Amino acid sequence: VEKAVANGPLTGKRILVTSGPTHEPIDPVRYIANRSSGAQGTAIARALAALGAHVVFVTGPADVPPPEGVEVVRVQTAREMLDAVEAALPADAGVFAAAVADWRMKDAHEEKLKKSKDGLPVLSFAENPDILKTVSHKTDGRPALVVGFAAETTDVLAHATAKRDRKGCDWIVANDVSPQTGIMGGTENAVTLITDSGAEEWPRMAKEAVAEKLADRIAQALGVA
Ligand code: CTP
Ligand code: CA
Repeated sequence: VEKAVANGPLTGKRILVTSGPTHEPIDPVRYIANRSSGAQGTAIARALAALGAHVVFVTGPADVPPPEGVEVVRVQTAREMLDAVEAALPADAGVFAAAVADWRMKDAHEEKLKKSKDGLPVLSFAENPDILKTVSHKTDGRPALVVGFAAETTDVLAHATAKRDRKGCDWIVANDVSPQTGIMGGTENAVTLITDSGAEEWPRMAKEAVAEKLADRIAQALGVA
């Protein structure tokens, strides 16, 4: 850690953040992934570090560089991300902002697939581990606060509320990523924070501002602000 903030409210707290997409290889030159710049997860890690937390930042191949002053663990696949998360526990809180690929190839090809006159390749999938759900259901070493994300394109509140129950996390940060919002790939975000006490709609603001507000709320929840 390059720049530990000595006197922030999160000093002495260890917080895990996942961010970015995962890449699941099809063959050595191709992969399956979700769209994710990593901008929101990176901003959250930066904001938590600015409040003094020791941040373990587990990131897939993102467009934006990781923040200064955090412990960076780089991964490619969902399974590598789960391993890195397990290795980073225990932690006081976990924020799961990564856009994890839901599926990987059942058998990735070791050699590049070539175009063939015999027709198109058929890809078979296997389901990836659910990192957020795995951590949320831990009986031993579960972070006191587990925060998930839900990027939805329809019925955002209903889907996100159901997702919170299904995953077993404490909070869900929900957002509408349908194309007309212009959120995907942009610099702003409009989120609803879903907790035990209900849904709180935050105004549209810069991703950095969402990150700072969330970091403040995490500090409050951990009883240190
Ligand atoms: N997540 C995870 N591991 C996975 C999939 C998702 O940790 N294999 C986390 C994400 O980081 C996010 C939350 O779970 O915090 C919700 O991700 P999302 O893709 O919205 O949920 P899914 O359960 O995969 O549902 P969907 O079918 O809508 O993709
Ligand atoms: Ca998913």
